[in-house]
Amino acid sequence: MKNHFIVVEGLEGSGKTTAINTIKKTLNNIGISDIIFTREPGGTRLGEKIRKLIKYNFKNDQITHKSELLILYAARNQLIEKVIKPALMKGKWIISDRHDLSSQAYQIGGRGLNKKLVQLLRYLVLGKFQPSLTLYLDIPPELGLQRIYSRNKIDRIEKEPLSFFIKTREYYLKIISKNKNILLINANQKIEQVQNDINLILNKWLIKNI
Ligand SMILES: Nc1ncnc2c1ncn2[C@@H]1O[C@H](COP(=O)(O)OP(=O)(O)OP(=O)(O)O)[C@@H](O)[C@H]1O
Ligand SMILES: [Mg+2]
Repeated sequence: MKNHFIVVEGLEGSGKTTAINTIKKTLNNIGISDIIFTREPGGTRLGEKIRKLIKYNFKNDQITHKSELLILYAARNQLIEKVIKPALMKGKWIISDRHDLSSQAYQIGGRGLNKKLVQLLRYLVLGKFQPSLTLYLDIPPELGLQRIYSRNKIDRIEKEPLSFFIKTREYYLKIISKNKNILLINANQKIEQVQNDINLILNKWLIKNI
């Protein structure tokens, strides 16, 4: 049986939540409605607590990059074992707002952590497990941040300087150029155009993978 695990990735304000709604509608239209929606960090009781810790409970000088990395993977382990794998075993579809690619981009690219360290952790937690499809919404960071700055509550990560997001985006692009299961969507377009692009790519993928 094929796994149906779709991940949406991208910088803050790139349009991930909007894209997930588009994907949901497209799947519903072809009769797929047994879908589990999840997010990283989060998606389990432990994961949601870790999400709050990561986003709101510390200042940057109170948590090391390595500690941050380790708790992100604790949340991921919990989600994979308790939610994602059991659901896929039952033939359900999963759509996740972020997954492991975020750690590659933010922790290696943004934070500058050692690539081998992150990949070792990834192997310990995920082994060879991978999403079936990842859609990466590409946007210049200043534009994404502009979109979210109008919100009331800005979290610790969103307060990072622009240079952090520039490095994170560069790393996303580097990984994507080497991986055929990650498809890039230009998120710097009108919402309708982004939705069209998502539908085109998704429908093409569905024909081969349903
Ligand atoms: N293509 C677009 N053009 C203009 N505005 C957009 C576009 N896509 C989404 N938006 C708006 O930008 C804001 C951020 O979009 P959204 O919440 O989907 O991004 P996100 O990637 O989920 O953000 P976050 O990282 O904070 O979860 C929302 O107000 C949304 O309506
Ligand atoms: Mg969102």
